[in-house]
Formats: sequence, C-alpha cells, structure tokens
Amino acid sequence: MIFAIVSTIADDKEQVDYFIRYHLSIGFDRLYLYFDEPCDPAIELAKSYPQVEVTVCDDNWRKQCIDSLASLSDSELELHEAGLYEAEVMIRQEANVRFAIERARKEKVSWLLHIDSDELFYTPFNNIKAHFSALEAKGIRNVIYKNCEALIHADATDEPFQSTIYFKRNHFKNNSWTYTTTQRKLLRSLGWKPEYYFHYYQNGKSAVNLEQDVELDGVHFFNTKVKPIVWEQDSARILHFPSPTYSSFEKKYRRLGNFSNEWRGEPRAGDFISLIHLKARDAFLSGRANALKALFVKEVAVDDADVIECLRNRGLLDCIADTHQRVLSRNELVANTLEERTFLYERCLSLIENEDLASKHMSQSFKQQFTASFERLDKVIRLIYPDTTIADEVILSSLQLVVQAVNGRNPDFQKLDNSRAKTGEWLSTNERVGACLYIDRFADNIADFRSKLSYLRDLGINYLYLMPPFEAHPGRNDGGFAISDYKTISKQLGGNSEFDQLVVMLKEYDIALCLDFVLNHTATSHPWAVKAAENNSYYRGFYWFFETETEALQWLDGVEDTFPEQGKNITFNQELGRYVWTTFNDYQWDLNYSNPDVFVAMLENLLYLINLGADVLRLDAIPHIWKEMNSNCKNRPECYLIVEAYQIFASLLSPSVKLISEAIVAPEQVKSYVSSNGTSFAYRPLLSASLWQSIKSTDTRIMQHQLQRWSTLPLQCNWINYVNCHDDLQWVFSNKSLIENNPDIDVKAFYRSLISFFVNGNDKSFPRGIAFQGKRISGTTASLAGLEKAIDGKNNTGVEKSINRVLLMHAVILSIGGLPIIYIGDEVAETNDYTYRDNDNTGYDSRWIHRPKRNWKELNNALSLEGSIEAYVHHQLTKLIFSRKRMSELSGYKFKFLNSSEKSLLLYTREDNKFQFLFVGNFSPLKKKLVLLGTDSELVLKKWENVTEDNCEECYLPNELKPYQYYWLRRKKTQMESYNAR
Ligand code: GLC
Repeated sequence: MIFAIVSTIADDKEQVDYFIRYHLSIGFDRLYLYFDEPCDPAIELAKSYPQVEVTVCDDNWRKQCIDSLASLSDSELELHEAGLYEAEVMIRQEANVRFAIERARKEKVSWLLHIDSDELFYTPFNNIKAHFSALEAKGIRNVIYKNCEALIHADATDEPFQSTIYFKRNHFKNNSWTYTTTQRKLLRSLGWKPEYYFHYYQNGKSAVNLEQDVELDGVHFFNTKVKPIVWEQDSARILHFPSPTYSSFEKKYRRLGNFSNEWRGEPRAGDFISLIHLKARDAFLSGRANALKALFVKEVAVDDADVIECLRNRGLLDCIADTHQRVLSRNELVANTLEERTFLYERCLSLIENEDLASKHMSQSFKQQFTASFERLDKVIRLIYPDTTIADEVILSSLQLVVQAVNGRNPDFQKLDNSRAKTGEWLSTNERVGACLYIDRFADNIADFRSKLSYLRDLGINYLYLMPPFEAHPGRNDGGFAISDYKTISKQLGGNSEFDQLVVMLKEYDIALCLDFVLNHTATSHPWAVKAAENNSYYRGFYWFFETETEALQWLDGVEDTFPEQGKNITFNQELGRYVWTTFNDYQWDLNYSNPDVFVAMLENLLYLINLGADVLRLDAIPHIWKEMNSNCKNRPECYLIVEAYQIFASLLSPSVKLISEAIVAPEQVKSYVSSNGTSFAYRPLLSASLWQSIKSTDTRIMQHQLQRWSTLPLQCNWINYVNCHDDLQWVFSNKSLIENNPDIDVKAFYRSLISFFVNGNDKSFPRGIAFQGKRISGTTASLAGLEKAIDGKNNTGVEKSINRVLLMHAVILSIGGLPIIYIGDEVAETNDYTYRDNDNTGYDSRWIHRPKRNWKELNNALSLEGSIEAYVHHQLTKLIFSRKRMSELSGYKFKFLNSSEKSLLLYTREDNKFQFLFVGNFSPLKKKLVLLGTDSELVLKKWENVTEDNCEECYLPNELKPYQYYWLRRKKTQMESYNAR
C-alpha cells in the first residue's frame, strides 16, 4: 500500500519542514504539496525531499485550474464564480486535490489524505500502516477524522507544532455539540461560548482509498459510493495548530487582508466558526498597534495552568505528547535514497561518456537533457518496477539503447528536431491536418504511393498516419497489427529502402509521419514468439502463459473479452500444451510488461521507429498492456507510467517526437493518458461517438454536455479528432455524465438504440452499418451517413442529406480543437466495400468493409466530373482544410459552447487574441431557426466573414439553417477585445 498526503501550502519554511518530516516519519510515502506562492522560500526545501512532489501554483497553474473548473458540471460551477476564484485559496485547494487524485492514481497510491500544512495526522501507532490496514480489514474506504485544536500559548516560541501537548477535544457530532451540562458550565464560567471553544473548524478532515470512484465533496471531504464514516476509535485524529505562534497569527491576517464576511454566499462566522477570524481581520486592518496582539493574548491563547487543569478534568482537553519523538531528521529520511540515486545518476553519466556521442557538443547537451529528466524517470521506473536492482538495470539498459540510437540518428532528422523544439508546439497548430490510410489499399506499394503523395498534399494533408507497414503474420494479420518484425518494412510493399525514400519525400513536403507502435502484442510469427513456442524459457517470459485453464481463469476473472467474436482472451497453444493470453486474435500474443526485459526490448523497437523517420508514434491498444490479477486488466496505472517512461526516453532521442495514446475507452479513463509529461496527445473517441449520436438523434445536447465535461486537458496537450477511422465505431460515453444530464435515462437502452439504428437499417434509418463484436459499428462514413441507401433507392434528397452529414461532421472535427485526422476515403464519400467477405483473411472481421482498395481510375473519372458526389465532397473538404490552415484561432483545443433555443443546433466559438471564430451547425434533416440566448445573443449584432463561402463575404449571423447546414464564421476582434484576451 502506498500512502500520500495532498496539501496546499502557504506557511513558514520551518513549519513546512516539520510537516514534511513528521509525515514521512510516520509512514507516508509521498506528499503532493501545492505552493500557493510561486516565490515561497519553502519550495526549494520541499524539493530536496525525493518523497515530495512540489507543484508551484504560478500563473500557468492557475490558468489550468480555471480550465479544469470550466469543465465541471453546472451545479459545481455555481460555486466557482470567477471573483471568488481569485479571492479564495480554498477554491484552488479544491482544484489541487482534483489534480492530486489523478496524479496519485497514476502513481498507485492507495490512500490519500487531504490536510492543511498547519495540521498533523495522528494515530496511536508509530506507523500509519497499521491504522490503514485495520481500516481496510473493516472494509472502510472513506473516512473522516475528527480534528482537535491545539491549545496555544501566548509566548509560544517560533517552533511550529512543538509548543503544545494539549488539544481541545472535539465535541462536535452529527452537526451539533455533545458537551455535557458540566462541560458547558465550565466553558461559560471561563468566558467562552461552548460553540466557540474551537476557534476554527470542527468537522474534521478526510482520507480516501483511491481504488474506487472518488469525487470531491466540498474542499475537505470525498464522495464515494459508500458514505464516509467518522472515525471515533483508536484516537486517530487531526491535530490542528491554527497559528501555533503569535507571529504566524499576525502573518496570516496580513496575508488575508480585507476578506469578505461571506463565504460561498453564507456568513462566515456563526454556528460553526467562532468570530475570531473576523475579529482578527478587523484588528489587523484597524492599524492600531497591538490590537491584534491583544486579541491573540485575550482570546486565542490559554496559559493559565489552573484553567488547563480544569479543562482536562472535565474531559475538554487531551494530552498528546508522543508526536515529537517520532520525527526523524531530514538526513535520516533522505540520505539512503539520495545516496542510491546519486550513485545511479553517476553510473548513467559515465555510461553516456563511454558511449562517445558523436560530438562533444552533443554529449554535453545530451547530458543536460538527461539530467533534467533523471529525477522523474527514476521515479517512474521505480513505480513500475519497485525492486531497486531491477529498476536500476532497466534505466541503465534503456539509456544505453538511447545513446546508441542518438549516435545513429540521421543528422537531417536532428536538424528538424531542433527547429521544432524552437517553435514549440508544432503539432497543435491550426496548420496541421492529418490523414490516415493503408499504403496497400490506397496504392499498390510504397513506390506507387510516393507517386500519389501529391494527391494528399493537394488536399492539404501534412500529417500522415500510415497503418503498420511492417512484416506481419502470414495470412490473417489484423490489418498489419500482428507484427512479426518491427524493423522490417513489408517486402510486398517494397521493403526498407523504398520506405526510406518515402520518408525523405515526406520530410520534403513537410508531412509529419505517424507510425504505430504496436506494443501490446506481437504476432505469433515474431521471433520472440517463435522461440517461446519452442519452449525457450527466456522468451516464454515475454508472454503470458498458463499451465492450466484454471490458472488462466484466475487471471481472467472479471476481464471482458475484447474481440469476443474472434475468440476468448486466452487461446490454447497446441505446441506448448499451454494457454496463452490473446486479447485480440489468436495469432497476436500479449506481451508481459511485468518482465522488465520486455520493457527494454520494446523500447529498442520504439527508438528504431523514431530513427526510421516517425515524428509521431501511436501507442496502439495502450489500455491493455498491464495485467493484474483481480482487476479488469485495463487502464492500470502502470499503463500510464510505461507511457511516460517511453516518452522520456523517446524525447532524449528526439526532443520533438510525440507519443499519442490510442485508448478507445470512456472519457474518464482517456483523461489519465494525457499529461504534460506523458503522452501529450490522445485519441478522442468521445467526439466521434457524440457526432454519430447527434446525427442519429438530431439532438446535440448529449454531445455538448459530454464534451463540455471531458475536453479539458493539461497544458501543452491536445486531442486527436476523427469522424471515422480504420477501426469500428465505439460508444464510449461517460455513463456518469449521461445520467447527470438526464437522470431518467435508461443507459442500456440508449446504447441498444444506437447500435440498432446504425446496424439494422429499418425503413426509417439511413445508415448501412454492420455490427462488429456485437456492440460496435463498422461502415464507411458515407454509408453510415446514408449515402449508400440513398443511391440504391435513387433518392436525391437522401443523397444530398447524407453528403451534408459527412461534411457537417468533418466541419466539426476540423474546427472544434485538436488535430483532425481524415480517414482517407471520406474525402470522396466512399461507400461500403462488401468484397472483404470473399477473402478468408478478411471475411471474419467486418472492419474490412470500410477499408476498400482504391480504384484510382474510377475515382479520377468521378473527380473530373463536375457535379459528381466525389468532386463535390472533395472540393468542400479541401476548402475547409485550407481555411483552417489560415485561421490561427483554430490552434489548441479550447472552445466555448453557445446557448441557442434549438437542440439540433451546435454552436461554439474559438478564439485567440486577434480573431473570434464561430461554428454554427444544424444536426437535423429539417430547417432550424437560430436564436441565441442570454449574453450570447450579442453576437447577432456582429459582422462576420463567411469562411464557408468561396468568396468569404461579410454577413450577419444567419436566422435559419438548412438541413445539416453549417457555417464557419470569423471576425477580427476590436482592439479592446484583443487587449482583454491577452
Ligand atoms: C488497435 C488497432 C486495431 C487493432 C488492435 C489490435 O485498436 O487500431 O486495428 O485491431 O489495436 O492491434
């Protein structure tokens, strides 16, 4: 079990130091500390503890907090009005805890405690492990600890936490006080209202087990399925030291200044909190010398030994005297780790030196880069492989591979790396537009493909995702995803030298290349698998073998079959007489990353792909790579950690290379894969699912609600958008958000109706989809949008509508924020190809229906025919693509939905400091009136450039939209607006 604390800090260095040491000494493994003041002198000190993760809440951080708040649900948002946000540290505290939860989950933390830095967590045991084990044994996973308040001495020295052994006992229970009559009497006789015996709060603080759904409940509590329990047993509690000394008291009120009487619309003081907070504010602001000190001596501190004795006798004070003995020194806490780390770091440096990097300059800058990432890398690897010897070995062997790869890197690629590193976010800009295709479905082979590259360039494509072009399993190969050699380009396609020429051409055209890094499995024809099948024990360790079915089922209990129509997650291997883990097809064996040799061996392949010329690597099927017994074996924290470790190593070879996560899972989980230090891009299956759901329902409210909630990303991250791709369509909504949006929804029926609409094609429904694995949908965009059926039925309006659906969805992915990827075929509204059924290697997998072989002769004819469907769609899409490229406001991912009175309409704005962009689209087959609501209606008065029209004329907002019509509008901001946006 790993234990962590999250805390937002604005306190003295000495206090912070004691806080850290105390908690590490009693067994917390990690402290997530958020420093509210970017220049806090305690920051450096905190950083010197390897167990402490410091986040400085600078302007960037605050921006990120605002973004994360913007994605909360309406009810949560009400609490976060902008004014309050800036004024109140508690709002930021809340955001910090949210971030910490995500981070802690990734770092496999089991229990997270949220306290402030003027508090100590106390249990009667010297080590907290005993306490939390006892909780777990009782099945408790969300717990509120009562706080008790330190009795402050007027002359307490500046030794934070150390000047008291007396704590006011907490008599608050179930929202009222449980003082006895004699206790009340005593308090009154001492001049205190019993309700104000505690000066600050009395309702405790919380710890939560993170292996469950956790939401925040206010700043200091957690919401989980099972309600929290208030811990009343073994005297575990929070020791609260509000202003342990006068100087801290004075500092506090100087910092808070003139705060308001209210908090979240309620009076601050009253039933629960004493008036001391407001009195101290007024005393400080009065400017009178000594006013604050007098208040402190009179109302805060208690020094009278008789009073103390009376309070003790009446059960109003507890004596806790054993905290200080527990606290170890910084040296004792960090020396070992630091020594080990320094030793490893030095071994790494000498390895770099011995490898003799091509030039002295390169060696220097490589060392610098390595040094900058060492600490994080070390931590991440240790989280994946907790055994120190193994972790050290993984780091050293991996580094060796990286250094060799740096030595072998093409100097032209290096130049590009450097220039991209200078320009920063090269992939997030509006100027990038992607396409995705199979070389051998688009062309005959690589040579032929090169001759067709100009087609893509003319379409405006400058990011190309090529399906795996490597040597693959003979016969069935899952579209190339069953790789038998990561380093050899398929001979049928032309082999490595042809591919190298393609790479040169791509670089000349400034087309970024994205290749798959298929890391979850290899083909059974891969040499590792072949050796494993020959019973080579080293390579057997690369995969998941089970002696018996019972053993296999122990692991697979609770694991859903991914391709149930293709078979189970396990396959019996005749040769070995064993079962083997096969998440996808029986010819794809899952790799075993708990074996560190697999991590290193696959890193070698990754580095190879980067040196082959890939600018971006798509991490295929990433949620499956880590298996753990008694879990669903999906989205385990190690998946994110491996991603982060690979990103660090990859960046050492190529600072501009991007890894992107292909996690086609619910948005709650997708989020975990994207982070500023992990993969900075992730596929956004929610957008594609939402677009199709809106097309079906002619209602955009679910799309708006879901995207509003799940689009926010950490800094420097972005989405990969698509309408359709080589895979099937999956209905990956957030069920929680569905219910939040509509409490009466029958979630199962919602999914059933989507599947039957796109598959069954009854008289009314227009799509011609085919089920894939029961719940998912195969079909080309055009066929799903109704084109095939309309053409067959000679239904001209149907044709028009379906084409407009295709364009409408593309108009969204190209503008809503993120890198758009067009699935080649969609640009000419290609319909389903049923010939896949006649081929034994494809017939079993309905996704081949939307992977047709391109017939260039027919297509060229169609494109040259004015008025053909192909020519029209191609022209409209090209126009959108080139428009996007000149609209700087379409960079990044941020957007804002607008309110209209019509549920079929989708409206959003995007902006930078020069331009405002407005998207208006109609998801209905009927005309719709456009009426903007609330403050958004001001936009009606503005004049816009209509980018959707060839001549880009100026116009006002349209009053009405035709079926499936969309507008791209933009306007230059006024000087004032530009100024405000800065
Ligand atoms: C990814 C690919 C898909 C493939 C699967 C197994 O999801 O996109 O085509 O079948 O991984 O490799």
